[in-house]
This record gives sequence, structure tokens and C-alpha cells, in this order.
Amino acid sequence: MSELRAALGAGAVLSGSEIGAKHRSDMSMTGTELPRALIRPRNTEEVAAALRICNAHGASVVPQGGLTGLAGGANARAGDIALSLDLLNGVEELDAEAGTLTVLAGTPLERAQAAAAEAGFLLPLDLGSRGTAQVGGNLSTNAGGNRVIRYGMARAQVLGLEAVLADGTILTNLNKMLKNNAGFDLKQLFIGSEGTLGIITRIVFRLRPLPQSTNSAFCALPSFAAVLDLLRRAERDLGGAAAFEAMWPDFYRFVSAHPMTKSQPLSPDHPFYVLIEQQGLDAAGDAARFEAFLGEALEAETLVDAVIAQNEKEAQSFWRVREGYALDTLKDIVNFDVSLPIGRIGAFAETCRARLEAKWPGGHFFFYGHIGDSNLHITTCVEYRPSEGMHDVDELIYATVRDFNGSVSAEHGIGTLKKDYLGYSRSPEEIEIMRRIKGALDPKGILNPGKVI
Ligand code: LAC
Ligand code: ZN
Repeated sequence: MSELRAALGAGAVLSGSEIGAKHRSDMSMTGTELPRALIRPRNTEEVAAALRICNAHGASVVPQGGLTGLAGGANARAGDIALSLDLLNGVEELDAEAGTLTVLAGTPLERAQAAAAEAGFLLPLDLGSRGTAQVGGNLSTNAGGNRVIRYGMARAQVLGLEAVLADGTILTNLNKMLKNNAGFDLKQLFIGSEGTLGIITRIVFRLRPLPQSTNSAFCALPSFAAVLDLLRRAERDLGGAAAFEAMWPDFYRFVSAHPMTKSQPLSPDHPFYVLIEQQGLDAAGDAARFEAFLGEALEAETLVDAVIAQNEKEAQSFWRVREGYALDTLKDIVNFDVSLPIGRIGAFAETCRARLEAKWPGGHFFFYGHIGDSNLHITTCVEYRPSEGMHDVDELIYATVRDFNGSVSAEHGIGTLKKDYLGYSRSPEEIEIMRRIKGALDPKGILNPGKVI
């Protein structure tokens, strides 16, 4: 600890009661231990100096950003040193000609989005926790969110990266070019590896034109086949949706009837619901095209009902239903984030629900998610028998995911919560290569031990 204090300054190394309770856990609330120290480097060189010292002593380091993750990836263990990125905060450069934004890793996502928007650009990465989440954490988890269907996941929006390895080596490649095939794309190693291979300190994002119009509709549909038909129509007639979020009726009924949601766009007796958004650069033409698109889908009986948001406030009320915060008021819920080939999501949901109901009659099972990008969320709420726990629900759902050739994590990552199930979606050979890469970059295993692999 004295070496860290000498390198970073005493104020940047906290211990005991100086460490806030929030540093135990990410938003999954599964972390229970306070780290033995919390360090707050102010720049890349200090991150490197701190890692060099920790590596020399074999001290384990858990990187922490905004702590909005949902897989336990930033949870501390009692012997860990938590490394907070929150002082590496700020926008360094907006290059309007290259269409890039260079930011420090601890910058809140919303602040980076605002910097892009002020210059007339869109930073397409977006998710519910934008106000607290930090871009470095978003990248280390390869965050998904609501715009993946249009722009891809976090990794698709990054051109350049700076990261610090376990031994303090700084790898800097603040590339601004869309095309760059000079050797291995090393930045992708640090994106989605949840802080196990290096600590991201700087990012060059690729920006897009800022949309001039957003049109949103809340739709009712007769079947899952109709949900898929609406998605294909959107690809054909709208050039793709900007968001495509589906909700099964149990989810819609519970959330829209809950007083905290304050929104029930459609009657609660339909088989499926979809929140669809279109964004474009031609405000008047876009609105007309969106209305015509919905009209045709109604005529084809792909839709049974739809309501178009008349203003931003109404659009926000649609998103309040989809965000489903009312689920958090239930006791003993478990949230799942799985991925399946899109055509099989309907059958998967039916099979999964039947298996859950057979095992826990009287339980509540909510199915919803981004769907257009193959990502399904499930929230379960069951009364466990004395010998049971969360692990039993995990076991049932992940076994069903495996039966359908899906992935145990679509966008939240593996962290600690899904570590036992990585082998359900990755082969032994793949996991062995992950271990070898980990061993090559972090031979002493100091970076975020116990996570992912
Ligand atoms: C969502 C987050 C939880 O889609 O991934 O609501
Ligand atoms: Zn999600």
C-alpha cells in the first residue's frame, strides 16, 4: 500500500471506512465484500504505475467504472484492490472531419453522447443506465442496449483504443481510420473481456449523423410469427428499425398495470407487443413513411392495433413500459440476458415457460427484450423450496438455451454470475484459447480474477 501511496499520492489510495459501500457490487447486487483498497488514478500513466506495483506484488485488481453492470463483473472480493476510473473523465477531442470522438474511459456515457450531439453527430451506443455508466465499462463489457439492431454492439463503434496491461505496459492505438488491416485487431481483445486482459483508458468512437427525426409506435400483434414479419417489413420498407423491442403479454400486463409505470399504450389482452422506432434525416418524409408502414402492416394483419407517439413525452411513456422497472419491486427476481437465433425465439420462450411452470407452478415469468438483434431478457419470480435457490432457475434456463443453440449472455457479459455456464455456449477448445490469451497478457492473473473464465 505504501508503494501505491508514493506513486499516486495518499489521497488517491483509500482503505477501510474511506471506501464507499457502493464499491462492493455492480447493479446485480450480488457483491458482498468491500475491497481492501480503492485507488483512483488520474491519468493513464498513473493506471500503469499502479498496475506495475500490483503486478510486482501479485495483488489482484478489480477495475470499476459506473458499476451499472448486471453480471457481477465489477464485484470486489475482500482481498482485491478496486481501481476506479472515475477521475479519467472527459472528452478530449471531437474530430468533425474524421467523424470521431476521443474520450477518457471514466466519462459517463451520457456526457460522451452530449458532446457528439453538440457537434451535430450521434454516438450510437445507448442504454438505460447512460447517466451513470462509464464508456470504459461499456466497452470492457461490450455493452449492447437499444440501438444494436441499427449500429451494432459497443465493439462495432470503436476505431481506436488505449489500454494498460497487467504489467503496466501502455498499448496505445488511437486509430481514426475505418479501414486499417495492419495486423491483429488488438483492441478487440480488451472489448468484451470484462477487465481480465487489460484496463481501457481511452477510446476513439466512430460517430454517425445525428438523426433529425424519431418516430415511435407501440404495437399489438397476434403471434410471434407476426413479430418476425414486422421486423422484416421494417428492414424492407424503413431501411431497418432504430429500435425493435418485443414484450410477451405477462410482461406487458404486469408492467403497464403497475402504478410506477404510468403508461398503458394499448389494451392488455393481446398476444404480443412491440415498441418500434424509426430514425432518419428527413423529418417530414420519415413521419409519412412510418405511418404508411404501419398502415400496410395493419392491413396485412401483421398488426392488430398500433399507437404512434405524438411527441417525445409520449415516446418516453412507451419506453417506460419496455424498461419495466416495476419488475424490480418483486421479491427474489432473477434477470436473464440470453441470445437465440431469431427464428427460434418464439419456440424457445414457449418451451422455457413450460419447463419453468412445471417446476415452479405459481411462479411469474416475464419475457421481453431487444429481439430484433436476437436478445431476449427473462425475469423470473418464484418461491423457492428450502433446498433451492437462484442456481436452480439458472440451471433450467441455461440448459434450455443450450438445447436451442443460444448464448447464455447476449449483452450483459459473463462476470461471476454466468461463469459456470460459459461452457454451455462455448466449446472446450474456445475456452482453452481464452485461458491461453489470458495467460499471455496477464501471466500472474492479477486482473479481475474469478471473472469470465
Ligand atoms: C434491458 C437491460 C436490463 O434491456 O439490458 O432492459
Ligand atoms: Zn437489454
